[in-house]
Amino acid sequence: MGRLDGRVAIVTGGAKGIGRHYSFALAAQGARVMIADIVDGAGEAAEIAAQHGANSVASEICDVSDESAVKRLVSATIERFGQIDVLVNNAALYAPLPEQKFTEIDVDLWDRVMAVNLRGTFLMAKHVAPHMAGRRYGKIINIGSGTAVRGIPWLMHYVASKGGIMAMTRAMSRELGDDGIRVNTLMPGFTLSDSIVNENPGHVETARNRAVASRALKRDIHPQDLLGALIFLASADSDFVTGQTIAVDGGNVNT
Ligand SMILES: NC(=O)c1ccc[n+]([C@@H]2O[C@H](COP(=O)([O-])OP(=O)(O)OC[C@H]3O[C@@H](n4cnc5c(N)ncnc54)[C@H](O)[C@@H]3O)[C@@H](O)[C@H]2O)c1
Repeated sequence: MGRLDGRVAIVTGGAKGIGRHYSFALAAQGARVMIADIVDGAGEAAEIAAQHGANSVASEICDVSDESAVKRLVSATIERFGQIDVLVNNAALYAPLPEQKFTEIDVDLWDRVMAVNLRGTFLMAKHVAPHMAGRRYGKIINIGSGTAVRGIPWLMHYVASKGGIMAMTRAMSRELGDDGIRVNTLMPGFTLSDSIVNENPGHVETARNRAVASRALKRDIHPQDLLGALIFLASADSDFVTGQTIAVDGGNVNT
């Protein structure tokens, strides 16, 4: 028996990087998973279907910054699975971002980071929450980042967007509590995802050793390290937890 049997989860950015691990982990606990990403998640969906059955998964291409695309995704999920219990707001502009002084950040790039990371998280919650409210139950897991607490340099657009997500989580939890919807932030430390390792070796070089040295537990973080907290926040085990930030970072930021 899985801890998420009978549940339906949407994972944005669920086709690659850490999100791919979230999609597989939720399915392994019995959830039916909608993989939503700007890249095609059909291959990941086929892998999950092979392990857990054809009705365990679907995938849609969706740009979370686009409200009409978000509405289509939510409708497609309801049509396919009939309900939505868990939303993992993981999509973000992160791995491809070059490190830059903020005085050199182009305004268009600033706006794009805000559109995907902050507006995307807002739009997904905006269109999923009414379905959850109708069933008086739901779990929204917003993906934050330790960078917003530590204020790391050279990624100020990203750091600001993640700070916004973490603040939004608190406000959202207050608005949605009466509907039985729990809203929390899962806040990873610097994690060796395939995306960051392959797409931004320069950032890995800057961040990796600095991050490990700042932890109580001095080792790298891998996507697998995040899955216990993800499943806790998605499952009934955390039904009286809302508005919180859960850091999974080896004891770097003390929340
Ligand atoms: N890797 C880390 O060190 C780390 C640390 C803390 C938080 N995070 C967060 O974890 C999440 C995953 O990070 P990752 O390391 O896998 O990097 P990533 O850049 O691969 O993750 C972003 C995911 O979002 C998708 N995406 C990008 N733009 C999108 C859009 N407009 N619409 C829908 N999907 C879109 C990407 O295709 C990808 O699947 C991100 O929210 C990131 O900010 C990562």
